[in-house]
Amino acid sequence: MNRTKMIIDADTGIDDALAILYGLKSPKIDMEGITTVFGNIPVEMATDNTLRILKLAGREHEIPVSEGAGRPLTRSLNGFSTHVHGGNGIGDVELPVSSQQKLEEPAADFIIRKAEELRGELVIVAMGRLTNIAHALQKDPGLPSKVKHLYIMGGAVNVPGNVTPVSEANIWGDPEAADLVIQSGMSITLVGLDVTMKTLLHQSHLDSLARLSKSENQPIVSFINQSMQYYFDFYREVNAYRECAPMHDPLTVLIAVEPGIVRTQTMHLSVECGGEHCAGMTVADQRVKPSVGSPVQVCVDVSAEQAIDLLLEVFI
Ligand code: RIB
Ligand code: CA
Repeated sequence: MNRTKMIIDADTGIDDALAILYGLKSPKIDMEGITTVFGNIPVEMATDNTLRILKLAGREHEIPVSEGAGRPLTRSLNGFSTHVHGGNGIGDVELPVSSQQKLEEPAADFIIRKAEELRGELVIVAMGRLTNIAHALQKDPGLPSKVKHLYIMGGAVNVPGNVTPVSEANIWGDPEAADLVIQSGMSITLVGLDVTMKTLLHQSHLDSLARLSKSENQPIVSFINQSMQYYFDFYREVNAYRECAPMHDPLTVLIAVEPGIVRTQTMHLSVECGGEHCAGMTVADQRVKPSVGSPVQVCVDVSAEQAIDLLLEVFI
């Protein structure tokens, strides 16, 4: 089987952690590296969480971790989401410290180098602000021709936003970076709230997983269950959900190797960078003859139950 050669770019919060664990366990993925970016938490904490997650998965010292941007491309930093992901970003669950060190090489350089080495085979899954991808494009304008595909967790096209009435957090956190990436000519799939808010992980799924998973996966399953409690509490407060939460980042990694679980539509997309209420809005030109923005595959529907089953089966 041809395994997907993947870099994950993450602001390693609770859902990023589950997405990374899925990527590490999937037989369809060769994890080439993980780059970190500010967003849910400061980038240094995202790096530390990522190293601890690799240790938890038994992959310490096997997969390079490269730290990226600590602030947006041009605008000032606008806080973190510890109210969503906990003070340490992973639901305040304490994981053992890793002895692995991050690379000296910064994220943008790592992405450029791996794209060159993998000669058109590299797939990037971006699950945080798009600042690292934007920096890489600024340093190497030829990057779009060297990257096989970019999957972006971000945006909200035909549904409300989550951090503002119209904007989703990853895009809102660095709109200039997002627009630069979307207009770059890179081959992109946008995995927005249109599909991630339909893809809910329930406590009942985790209870079944705890019963079914083999002993070697129990530490991972226990961590997922513990960290998800913080996430479930947030979504109960904000969305009145009962013991469940949307799988934003895990769905995005999943789609990279299981594309049949979503339906996509080509839309001409741009990102609003101005305005008090609309900054970070992903604007799709859905007119008969679109003329604003660049063509992107936008996920418009998802087989949610199938997605959750595929996500969890690698941990059994
Ligand atoms: O809006 C959800 C996204 O913002 C997810 O990637 C979550 O981890 C945060 O980064
Ligand atoms: Ca994320």
